Amino acid sequence: MNSPQRTATSSTLTLHVNGTPYTVTADHRATVLDVLREQLGLTGSKKGCDHGQCGACTVLLEGRRANSCLLLAVAHDGASFTTVEGLGDEEKPHPLQEAFVERDSFQCGYCTSGQLCSAVGMLAEASAGHPSHVTARPALERAAAGPAELTREEIRERMSGNICRCGAYPHIVDAIEDVTL
Ligand code: FES
Ligand code: FES
Repeated sequence: MNSPQRTATSSTLTLHVNGTPYTVTADHRATVLDVLREQLGLTGSKKGCDHGQCGACTVLLEGRRANSCLLLAVAHDGASFTTVEGLGDEEKPHPLQEAFVERDSFQCGYCTSGQLCSAVGMLAEASAGHPSHVTARPALERAAAGPAELTREEIRERMSGNICRCGAYPHIVDAIEDVTL
């Protein structure tokens, strides 16, 4: 009887995170979120549901927001990510970070890094003219219409993938609105 064939269960790969290349050996089942937190020590991105439902793990992948709990690290060799650690720091916070503090947009803070990364991605999407479910533009006009106007309804809809169990939603919208004005 033949012995079972050995198959590789991990690979060496490089993730570019906040401008720094990190080469790691990761299990093929490891998500980008797990590699960020457990191998790179970047614990700003949070694990809430681990199923793409809550947005706590949101990062920017090549500038677009993504749930890092749904991304297999092995499938992202060479990719570039921005995490909350890359948005700003105490010395030079991102305008959204300042607005979140100013507007008291968090209680426990568990969702906040995901909210911030999502908001950064969302502002870029709106600025590029991408419509949301509530954008009241005829489809044919969307491409030529330029940046989408960010009403509170638009902000709520566009941020609806980020759950806040503390219910800080009104203040989160206030903070994002401050940055868009
Ligand atoms: S932990 Fe990724 S969406 Fe909830
Ligand atoms: S501030 Fe607690 S979950 Fe959002």
